[in-house]
This record gives sequence, C-alpha cells and structure tokens, in this order.
Amino acid sequence: MRAWILLGLITFVFAKHEHYIGWKTFHVRPSNDVQLKTFGSLIQQLDLDVLGHATTQREGLVLVQPDQLEAFTSLMDGQGIAYRIHADDIKSKLDYDDMLIEEAHNATKARNGARLPYDNYQTWEAIEAYLDDVARRFPNRATLVNAGQSFEGRNLKYLKISSTNFEDKSKPVIVIDGGIHAREWISPPTVTWAIRKLVEDVTEPDLLDRFDWILFPVVNPDGYRFTFTNNRFWRKTRSTDQSALGSICPGVDGNRNYDFFWNTVGTSSNACADTFAGRRAFSEVEVRAVRDILHEHLPRIALYLTMHSFGSMILYPWGHDGSLSNNALGLHTVGIAMADAINSKALSHFPRYVVGNSVLVIGYAASGASEDYAHSIGVPFSYTYELPGLNSGMQGFVLEPRYIQQVCEETWLGIVAGARRAGDIFRK
Ligand SMILES: *[C@@H]1O[C@H](CO)[C@@H](O)[C@H](O)[C@H]1NC(C)=O
Ligand SMILES: [Zn+2]
Repeated sequence: MRAWILLGLITFVFAKHEHYIGWKTFHVRPSNDVQLKTFGSLIQQLDLDVLGHATTQREGLVLVQPDQLEAFTSLMDGQGIAYRIHADDIKSKLDYDDMLIEEAHNATKARNGARLPYDNYQTWEAIEAYLDDVARRFPNRATLVNAGQSFEGRNLKYLKISSTNFEDKSKPVIVIDGGIHAREWISPPTVTWAIRKLVEDVTEPDLLDRFDWILFPVVNPDGYRFTFTNNRFWRKTRSTDQSALGSICPGVDGNRNYDFFWNTVGTSSNACADTFAGRRAFSEVEVRAVRDILHEHLPRIALYLTMHSFGSMILYPWGHDGSLSNNALGLHTVGIAMADAINSKALSHFPRYVVGNSVLVIGYAASGASEDYAHSIGVPFSYTYELPGLNSGMQGFVLEPRYIQQVCEETWLGIVAGARRAGDIFRK
C-alpha cells in the first residue's frame, strides 16, 4: 500500500463552522460594464469576500459578514445591481459539503486504490507523499525539489519534469502552480493531474519531448491545511510577522504579495483583510519560492499558469490596471486555444470558459498578482485560471467531489493546447 493512501486514512477533522453563523452568501449579477465596475468598487468599499467572480454574462458569489449585510443590500439596491440569496445558513451548506467529502472519503477507503485518488479532495500530507512517491518511482523524469519551509515549517515541494533532466537548454519551460489561495480546493488536483499525465499516464508524449515542466501543486501548505482543520474559507498564508495584529489576524494574500505595483490597487493594508498585501512585497516565503522558480528559468519560460477558483475564466495581464501588454494578441490567441480545448470537453451544465484581460473580465483591478509579475519580468504567456466551481443546482459550496476528475481532465486539455500554441510562438 502506498504511503499517501495510509495518510489518506487519517480521518478528516472538520470544525463545525460555528464562525459562519449569521453570515450569508449572495449571487450577484451586474447587467452591464458600468454595473460590473460599480460592483468592483463595492467589493473594495465593503471588503467583500468574492468566492466566485461575476461577469456581465455570469453570476458571481460573495460572502457577506453579519455586520455588513445591511450596507451590502442597501448599496446593491441603490445601484440597481441584481442579487439574490444563495445561502441563508452557511453552516448547513458547509456541513453538507463535509458530508459529501466524508462519503467520498469512505468510498476511497473501501476501494483502497493505488494512485492518488481524484474522487475527493486530498490533504496536504497526501499530496506531499504523492510528490515524493512520483519522484521515487520515475527518477528519469521527475525530480523533487524542496524550495524550503513555509512559515509554519512545512516543506515547499515541487516537481521538475523533464526527459533530459533540464539539461537541454533549447527546450521551453512551462510552470504551473496551485494552492496559493488556500480555500480554492480544486486548484491542487489540476496540478497533480498534470503530473500524472506527464509521468504516470502519458498520452501526449510530444509535451515531454518539447518542454520541461515545473509543477507546484500546493504553494501555500499552511493555509491549505488550515482550511481542512479550522476555517473552510481561509484564503491567505498563516504568517504572523506581518503586522502588530499578526497573532490575531495572521496571513497575507499570496496573490497580492508579488512585487509589481505592489499594494496599489485591489489590496488592503489591514492585516485582518482577506486581501492584505503584507508588510512589503515578497514578504511571504511561499511567494518567494515561486518568484525564485520564475527567475531561475526565466529566459526559457514560455508559459506560466496559476490555478485559482472559481469562475471558468482564463485571465491575462495587466491585472493591476486593465491595460494590454505588447503581447496582448498572443496572450489572447493562446488563451482562446486553451479555452476552446476545455470547452470541447466541458459538461453541458458547467459554464463555458471566457478569456480576456483580468480587469476587463471581472471588473476590478488587483495589484501584486503572480500573473502580472511573471509577465512583467518577461514570461510571454502568463495566465490565471479561474477553474469551474459552484454551478446551478449544487447544494454546497465547493465543487462536489464527483466533479474533481472531470475538471482535472478538461483542464489538462487546456494545458495541452496552451503548451503547444505557446511553444509554437515562443522564441528563446
Ligand atoms: C463514513 O464511515 C464512517 C465509519 O465507517 C461512518 O460512521 C460514517 O457514517 C460514514 N459517512 C458517510 C457520509 O457515509
Ligand atoms: Zn484565488
């Protein structure tokens, strides 16, 4: 029996979500660009917690705390932006999610399969054990790198996957990271699935012949673990050294911590906010690990993807101000190729992917994100994936476990298409 299965047997311990009694979630539906922008400024004004991004074509989902409910509804009414309640009783939704996850967990246990399972969300320990195991089983293709320790001392492990041990410098490099936002649980499995498709179950051998890969499934292990043990909606890191309030309000938004227009827009200097940018750019050791990967391989990196959820979107720079980069045409072309590939395989009751500049699609700007940083230092094709999430009819919050593999499979098609298209255009 493999190590990660043993770890998988450890029972999930969920807090009972009491913290969220009285909180509510709302679907929001801005009907045009003006409303989308207005909604973007309400997010800033009320420090709303966006769980799913709205577009003018698509409802978003926001989490509102009890003392903001009145301000939220009156401002939305005042602006004439459509909204409707999603969850009056968040605790019961979260309990429902827990039940589904426990059910899937029981099924995995009963089957006792050998590979990393995709019928449920995995603990950080299980993912770490899987990376160790792949590197051990496929030494000619996969190299385990430990980039150091997270704030709380967990290993920051990623895999380098290459048919030449990264020695053929003419090959473009593709970098994919996941799990920087702790609660976005669908992100890490799309990255481990890419590992599987490059090493264990290869159906696109050209991707190994043509490219070297860096796959980093859980950039923020402390936060990820905290969402399993304490607080399902935790988004940030768990550092306590970034403000005087650090012990009361730990953590920094890792995707606001990069040094590109750092802390200028769509961020907060309040340590208790979910978009707290940190005391300074690159304050977070987890973010520095990704930065160092980008710089180490920079001239060869053709494509950088960072996996988030949710919204079924492929977003490209510049996310800090909505302007277009000199490579905007290329970014759009490769983005469309990825979205088309995903849409060809997507389930009919999931929303189709939209592609565009981050600000133009979601209606608000945010600085210090990895997508912008990678592009600013010279990575030509840099994207944020907002993976699929809640869709109509779902009773819980997270994407139900039975859809994890579907999302991994369709996302892989996007990665394949993106790698090939970016590789065709990329010149060292
Ligand atoms: C999972 O298994 C445990 C122990 O066998 C059982 O008590 C529990 O009810 C099961 N949960 C679900 C949701 O099936
Ligand atoms: Zn995110």
